[in-house]
Amino acid sequence: MDRIIRRPMSRRNLVSGLTAGATAATLATWPGLAHRPAAGERNAAFRLQSTPTTDVPDGPFTLEPLPYDYAALEPHIDTLTMQIHHDKHHQAYVDNLNKAIADLPDLHAMTAEELILNLDQVPEDRRNAVRNNAGGHVNHSLFWELMTPGGAREPSGALADAIASDFGDLAALQEEVTTAGLGRFGSGWAWVVIGEDDTLAVTSTPNQDNPVMEGGSPPILGVDVWEHAYYLKYQNKRKDYLTAWWNTVNWDIVNGRYEQVAAG
Ligand SMILES: [Fe+2]
Repeated sequence: MDRIIRRPMSRRNLVSGLTAGATAATLATWPGLAHRPAAGERNAAFRLQSTPTTDVPDGPFTLEPLPYDYAALEPHIDTLTMQIHHDKHHQAYVDNLNKAIADLPDLHAMTAEELILNLDQVPEDRRNAVRNNAGGHVNHSLFWELMTPGGAREPSGALADAIASDFGDLAALQEEVTTAGLGRFGSGWAWVVIGEDDTLAVTSTPNQDNPVMEGGSPPILGVDVWEHAYYLKYQNKRKDYLTAWWNTVNWDIVNGRYEQVAAG
């Protein structure tokens, strides 16, 4: 996490509880999907036919099917982008994570979240691969969840209050996230997190890094600004993609994540 747009966070002691070596109790606070490795075959029905299937371990991690139709986010995110993004890119993170830890059975019982919180427990020669690919698995699983169709179109409750207090209004928060996404050189993510002082903050990370890798709280919202997330429809117009992306956000999901992370 190399760029904090809003003031540094100091509200709650989330940071110390989420650094490397975090306890199982701390990890139980992680909102959203628990990316615990599951035995068994990956769901071939949700993979494009051309996806290589050789020389890739079947586990311990598997890619869950996209929990909604690939076309569900049209016209904001096009069907082909969703297919390739989920079935190719996310699958590659899972495959490469499995390959990276294939001969490290001590790591097989850890969730992807636990891996990125405890990179110091990963042998140095695999650490970067686990950082990138476990990070990619965690980040994309969150990304699909945030875009679940059918939810509230704007924040409510405690999150709405926090946005009003910390940003003024939703449009100001969105503008800061968009600025963070546009300012991310190359590939990465823009995030909304809760800081140590309980204020909301916008930040950005490179590659597949996640704010928790640098001691931050689990993000309550994140947007992928890798070109693979938008290039087919938006080409080089990252701003147009970011503007359209807000139409896909399920604020019921974000509300729930905020309340879960804020509760510690
Ligand atoms: Fe992506």
